[in-house]
Amino acid sequence: YRDLRVALLGCGSVGAQTARLILEHGEELASRIGARLTLAGIAVRDVHAQRDVELPQELFTTDAERLVQGADIVIELMGGIEPARSLILQALQGGADVVTANKALIAAHGRELADAAEQVGAQLSYEAAVAAAIPILRPLRESLAGDHITRVLGIVNGSTNYILDRMDRFGDSAEDAMRVASELGYLEADPTLDVEGYDAAQKATILASIAFHTEVPVDAVHREGISGITLTQIEAAKHAGYVIKLLAIAERITSSDGVAGISARVYPALIRRDHPLAAVYGGKNAVFVEAEAAGELMFYGAGAGGAETASAVLGDLVSAARRHVVGGPGIAGSLHAELPILPVGEVNTAY
Ligand code: HSE
Repeated sequence: YRDLRVALLGCGSVGAQTARLILEHGEELASRIGARLTLAGIAVRDVHAQRDVELPQELFTTDAERLVQGADIVIELMGGIEPARSLILQALQGGADVVTANKALIAAHGRELADAAEQVGAQLSYEAAVAAAIPILRPLRESLAGDHITRVLGIVNGSTNYILDRMDRFGDSAEDAMRVASELGYLEADPTLDVEGYDAAQKATILASIAFHTEVPVDAVHREGISGITLTQIEAAKHAGYVIKLLAIAERITSSDGVAGISARVYPALIRRDHPLAAVYGGKNAVFVEAEAAGELMFYGAGAGGAETASAVLGDLVSAARRHVVGGPGIAGSLHAELPILPVGEVNTAY
């Protein structure tokens, strides 16, 4: 196998899990890619900080720019706009593929970064930026590329879903539910981003732009958060057969004066209790897609978490790495594990 040099920028909970998976699953990944991923280094602010995962100390550096030079693939998990944006541009201009989970950056500068990637034929991917572990951007871009998407609506913020769900199912007051979400570490460092719908609006921007092939700026997304929602409202909704969820919605509409366009909005919406999105409990996310030929599709799973988000990062990493290998393993070539097929023993009959 040839080696592909991977530079990791950032080592928070997602970064640490990403590094762990690259190191622990090296052999398996190499056989799937047809090349070996070498973690060249991890750029951090403090090389001695406490990490979620124990990682070889010699990987850490504070010199992100130097690490980016000579990398085949750069993974940006620092968050924030700068220096993430400049480092990604540097990486792309140097011809490296880039994987990022940075929703704020993609929502604000996605077009600029995608242009930079296309100019040099590099790949920019950010599956982890929306709904963490749930594969949603690639299905929208690739699996549904031949269809005509009419609406995307989803629960894309786990912490507000957790808060609303506690109020709905356990009768918590808004303050109590918020306190528990905070104690569990579900909220962003600045909880306003979750509670006032900014995080969901960033994700709506990314979903809408991909689904409708149109740049949808984040400030064009109508945004209302959940801070005004009271237990009384939730109970009244329940009585009427509805549950209140913070939804991100992007759809094709025709305005009253006949203009066909896109509407993108984030707000606490009433969902009928028999709609599949009503059963998305706790901190989970789900995205419901409606397309002309495919009909209704739903994507469900973990929308946050270190390992869960790292799963999506690794998927993008493998996809980028495969581009570097001419004639790498296809589907037949990937049937290498040759595990025995075991007889059916005592199986569950209820799921
Ligand atoms: N604060 C975000 C959420 C984290 O609650 O969904 C994942 O983007």
